[in-house]
This record gives sequence, structure tokens and C-alpha cells, in this order.
Amino acid sequence: MKVLVFYATIEGQTGKIARFVADELETSGHEVTLVDAADMTAEVTPEEFDRVILAGSVHERRHPRLFEMFLAAQRNALDPARTLLISVSLMAAFESSRNRAQDFVDEMEMRTGFTPASVALVAGAVRPSSYDYFATQVVRHIVMRGKSYRPEDGDREFTDWAALRARVAEFMAA
Ligand SMILES: Cc1cc2nc3c(=O)[nH]c(=O)nc-3n(C[C@H](O)[C@H](O)[C@H](O)COP(=O)(O)O)c2cc1C
Repeated sequence: MKVLVFYATIEGQTGKIARFVADELETSGHEVTLVDAADMTAEVTPEEFDRVILAGSVHERRHPRLFEMFLAAQRNALDPARTLLISVSLMAAFESSRNRAQDFVDEMEMRTGFTPASVALVAGAVRPSSYDYFATQVVRHIVMRGKSYRPEDGDREFTDWAALRARVAEFMAA
């Protein structure tokens, strides 16, 4: 099948996730087009693909602006039944906050007017070694408040790669 993997990343984890998904699909024999939302030269026509996978990370409750703009602009070209949204956040990393991870998706759907049939809430990563002071404070006092993690603990990847592989395989088989 022809598959579009469109992604938007701020610190790189969603880029890593998108490349992982693309590699998995290629290994399974699919023809994959991988597009970074930041690539202004890319011409993307979702109608040409059998499946579309959209991956974007959450920062301060929102997916990247370019990501939301793409969804809003292409909502009529995107078939909800053939689209998987991968929402990458830290709320998705903890059972106690997964409903908040879903809230970010619901809010984005309201803003963009696009509702995919399949959604995967995927845990991202924390990288205090590359954050500035502001980002460190946001992660410490807002994002990870009440969680068993402090920025002093260092960089940590929460992404469950085996679960992601299974979720993508399930979507492709549907
Ligand atoms: C400044 C900042 C704000 C963030 N805000 C949120 C948030 O509101 N909710 C959340 O679940 N995760 C939040 N995160 C965590 C990111 O979603 C997580 O680090 C993710 O892996 C980032 O993906 P990216 O590297 O592709 O940008 C935030 C991270 C940073 C650094």
C-alpha cells in the first residue's frame, strides 16, 4: 500500500517515532512517503495514499501550529477511516493522565474540524539536557507535576516501541 507519514516535531521525539513507523512499514513491503511539516517545499496530496499516518507532539496543550494548519487545510482530502493520528505527549506516559492526553486530541479536532477514526496516544520523551530554563520549569512545574520524575533525573524516553509497532500493524490491517 502507499502510505503517507506526515509529522511535526519540536524536540525530535516525534521525528524519531515517524521514522520508526516508516521503517516498520517499509520492512512490511509498503511504499512510504515521509514528510516533515517544517518542509515548506513539500507538496502533499493525501488523496494519492491508501493510508495516512499523522504524528504530532504536544507542547503546552497543543500540537504544533503547522501540524494543525495541515489538518485544517486538508480535512476534506483526508479520509478519517484511512487515517491514524499519533499524538505524542507525556500525559500519555502515565495511566493517571491518559484522559488528559485524549483532551489534547479532542481540542485539536475541534480547532481543525478533522476527526480521524483511529487515534494512538503515544508517550514521548523528556530531554532536560537540551531544554532552556523556561522549558525546564514548564516540565518540572506543569507537565510532570505530581509524577515520579524530576528534570534532575536526566533525559528519559517513555515511548513503548513494541506497543507502537502493534498499533500501526493493527491500523494497517483494518
Ligand atoms: C516546554 C514543553 C511543554 C510541554 N507541554 C506538554 C503538555 O502540555 N502536555 C504533555 O502531555 N506533554 C508536554 N510536553 C512533553 C512533550 O510532549 C514530549 O516531550 C514530547 O516527547 C515532545 O515531542 P517532540 O520531541 O517531537 O517535540 C512538553 C514538553 C516541553 C519541553
